[in-house]
Amino acid sequence: MGFQVKGKTALVTGANRGIGKAIVESLLQHGAARVYAAARKPDSLQPLVAAWGERVVPLQLDVTDQKQIELAAQQAGDVELLINNAGILNTHMPLDAQAEASLRDELEVNVFGLLRIAQAFASILKQHGGGALVQLNSVASLRASAWASTYCASKAAAYSLTQSLREQLAGQGTQVLSVHPGPIATDMAVRAGIDDIAEPVTLVSEGIIESLASGVFHFYPDSMARDMGAAYASFAKQVIEAESAIQHQD
Ligand SMILES: NC(=O)c1ccc[n+]([C@@H]2O[C@H](COP(=O)([O-])OP(=O)(O)OC[C@H]3O[C@@H](n4cnc5c(N)ncnc54)[C@H](OP(=O)(O)O)[C@@H]3O)[C@@H](O)[C@H]2O)c1
Repeated sequence: MGFQVKGKTALVTGANRGIGKAIVESLLQHGAARVYAAARKPDSLQPLVAAWGERVVPLQLDVTDQKQIELAAQQAGDVELLINNAGILNTHMPLDAQAEASLRDELEVNVFGLLRIAQAFASILKQHGGGALVQLNSVASLRASAWASTYCASKAAAYSLTQSLREQLAGQGTQVLSVHPGPIATDMAVRAGIDDIAEPVTLVSEGIIESLASGVFHFYPDSMARDMGAAYASFAKQVIEAESAIQHQD
């Protein structure tokens, strides 16, 4: 099994900057026919449209807004590759007074956003032969840190949902890829104060295309992520990627 991006139609959330923008550029460089570039502020997509013309279709999409998601699904009914990249990171320790509010915000974007996007587009992917769903998770999905405790909790929840989506969407032939970057050089890394150890965005965007082609479920783009992925590999293969141990009985 493997998904080739050449000639395909894709949609990327959070496409205006950072990893999302790099993914749009890599998809186009590798021959995607059209990319719906989704962002909260469509004006911020202007540089991509100026560079790529009609192959980039700007869409207004806030992943916390169910109406906008439904409208986007109507406008982008030919999507074969769905990349849920939009995300936020707050830096709070679990005992900080703001921790509860921080976690609610992050769940709204990082977890409910994934759920809403997957629900809106699953039948569209099915209509086009299955296609693929890519979710931007993190090393924080696998290993929590106190300084970003609520972000880590949200990314662990998103990873859990990604596993369940993989299992359910297999029935309609949709390939699912869970991406687990460490620090990557974007605004998010600067805000988190980890930009000094951050690695280039193209490690993520180019690696997604290779990972889709090879059909893997987990992808670890940068050096921190690869080290963690190597330590996690045995558990991932024997437990996460194995046939579900608990099958639902209808
Ligand atoms: N950078 C890293 O070190 C790193 C590491 C591991 C995982 N990741 C994950 O990779 C993804 C991209 O991160 P990044 O580093 O590119 O972050 P970034 O530079 O902060 O960009 C975040 C993107 O998400 C969009 N976004 C935020 N809230 C949104 C919402 N409610 N609806 C739609 N779009 C929304 C932003 O749009 P606006 O411009 O409108 O704010 C922006 O396009 C995230 O899921 C992040 O958790 C990043």
